[in-house]
Amino acid sequence: MSNKGSLEVSIDSVLHENRKFHPNKEFAKNYILKDLNVYKKLYQSSIKNPKAFWEKMAIQNIVFFKKWRTVFKWKDYKAEWFTGGTLNVSFNCIDRHLITERKNKAALIWEGEPGETRTITYQQLYSEVSRCANMLKSLGLKAGDKAAIYMPLIPEAVIAMLACARIGVVHTVVFGGFSSNSLRDRIQDSNCKLLITADGGFRKGTSVKMKDMADEACKETPTIKNVVVVKRTGEKVNMKLGRDVWWHELIVNESNQCEAIPLPSEHPLFILYTSGTTGKPKGLLHTTAGYLLGTTVTTKYLFDIKDTDIYWCTADVGWITGHSYVVYGLLSNGATVFMYEGAPTYPEADRFWKMIAAHRITILYTAPTAIRSFIRLGNEGPLKHDLSSLRLLGTVGEPINPEAWIWYHEVIGKKKCPIIDTWWQTETGAIMISPFPGITSTKPGSATLPFFGVEPAILNKDGTPAKGTKGGYLCIKKPWPHMARTIYGDHERFKKTYWKEIDGVYFTGDGAHQDRDGYYWIMGRVDDVINVSGHRLGTMEIESAAVQHPSIAECAVVGRPDPIRGQGIVAFVTLKKSVAVNEGLKDDISKFITHEIGNLARPDEIRFTEALPKTRSGKIMRRLLRELATTGTIKGDTTTLEDFSVLEKLREKDEE
Ligand code: WT7
Repeated sequence: MSNKGSLEVSIDSVLHENRKFHPNKEFAKNYILKDLNVYKKLYQSSIKNPKAFWEKMAIQNIVFFKKWRTVFKWKDYKAEWFTGGTLNVSFNCIDRHLITERKNKAALIWEGEPGETRTITYQQLYSEVSRCANMLKSLGLKAGDKAAIYMPLIPEAVIAMLACARIGVVHTVVFGGFSSNSLRDRIQDSNCKLLITADGGFRKGTSVKMKDMADEACKETPTIKNVVVVKRTGEKVNMKLGRDVWWHELIVNESNQCEAIPLPSEHPLFILYTSGTTGKPKGLLHTTAGYLLGTTVTTKYLFDIKDTDIYWCTADVGWITGHSYVVYGLLSNGATVFMYEGAPTYPEADRFWKMIAAHRITILYTAPTAIRSFIRLGNEGPLKHDLSSLRLLGTVGEPINPEAWIWYHEVIGKKKCPIIDTWWQTETGAIMISPFPGITSTKPGSATLPFFGVEPAILNKDGTPAKGTKGGYLCIKKPWPHMARTIYGDHERFKKTYWKEIDGVYFTGDGAHQDRDGYYWIMGRVDDVINVSGHRLGTMEIESAAVQHPSIAECAVVGRPDPIRGQGIVAFVTLKKSVAVNEGLKDDISKFITHEIGNLARPDEIRFTEALPKTRSGKIMRRLLRELATTGTIKGDTTTLEDFSVLEKLREKDEE
């Protein structure tokens, strides 16, 4: 809990934000809920009687093959929703639309970075997913087996996810920007039998060599029996005989029909890794019915999906945002989803706006960090293109600063599009706190009010309510259908991290404050997790990677505010005695860390120091380092410091 100091600073700054924007009347006319009172009523009933509420939602929104016996059970911090029921996520995302006029509607519209496009209707998606599922079966996969997906953002990534879901194979998608070591660790932790990857993907005009990374990872993954390779860039890759197969060669012989098998409500759907406070990423396990219900219902109410919408979430499927709001929640609602493979500013700074105009995108869901970098690029790009198709905007991943919110509202939304600032996490599966776009008045920087069935509480460390405007730890009082069920292979860690930090409530790891209107303001992480461009990184994870460098004795990593990316990474490093500092050493360390984890973890600054500040019990005082990295000095409380001379040494370094 060493971030507490920064929590108070940021609360102070948003307390001065009191602009309020009322729902757009035009938008409200066709919105699913009439007014805020309807929301309040529904919300109250969802809290008073969650079982009845979610049961009704399930009946209205999800197709089960067999009805459940029990709506909810909670034992040893393991939630079970809709036990006794069977269903299939892939069926809900595809098959059920085929008997409606959505059959020939576009499910996916994809644009590659070089500019080519592909449109896949629901009927075509059915065929492609079926063929892929049959291919997985022919490779020996069956329900309960695990498959890793390491791919660029191309339709095959979505097809592979849905194919797994169709036959009960548990997928673990690893973001294509992660390095071979990160891929290896995830495959090892989840015992994947199969890896689905591509030769490469396009990013900033060059190809990212994914198959090479995959080969490197698979040197140490004995559980992988086959690697299926999608041809995307066409570059030369090594195909290991007996292990590697081409997707296109295998799939042509498969039937385009595959039954979506009935799976128990609690059948695992996917494992997704995210950073925590220790060195090892956690594999959050999500299951079938609750996850599907949560993503479906939040999509329906918060994104207000209509059959005429063309929806674009800019996230990669390697993150939870991509799972829930590129794939599952949207396709379950029969929406048309736009996907873009590459970099936002390639070949020109206006690529995003050009695509929005060209594809007549109506709903845009992106991250504050992207918005901030667009602000820096100037208004010419968005002003040059016709953005009049847009009717709803969303943000996710980190707190949005009011300045970025206003720019998004004025320059992109032309003051008419509601903005939903959606707070949630990999662990929560779906959006937890967000405005309801046609009815909630918004305040720049606030995620506003909880979704149905979500009971937030702002608490002190001892579990008592944090009173007044001071803020405290954001917790959720009761389990909900779309919550992660466990950390794969480590339920003890799941209990300890989420349910015992403050006894009996779900601990989010975020600080928050509630204003007089009951609106929530999320202040950012209160643990040793940093948020770089909306992506979570554990400081310990970076440190564990760094100390494997042959020259490094010790390393402490802290986050410091960054105007574009939210937070930047500063690494304080002590070198081994025998090591002489040379010019290339910092660069070498930086490369080493990105090789271990991925580009996301590249430090903005590496500082050599003779010693790190520690407490008498040997704990690194990151709080002091954070202060130094942020303000350039240390004024905070140093009474628990073991050796005061360390401070002088750190300061000296700073002046260099
Ligand atoms: C952490 C979760 C789930 C979306 C992608 C990130 C931060 C997320 C917001 C928001 C303020 C936000 C929190 C949270 N966060 N959305 N609207 N306002 N903070 O998923 O990688 O699991 O990270 O992202 O700190 O705990 P994630």
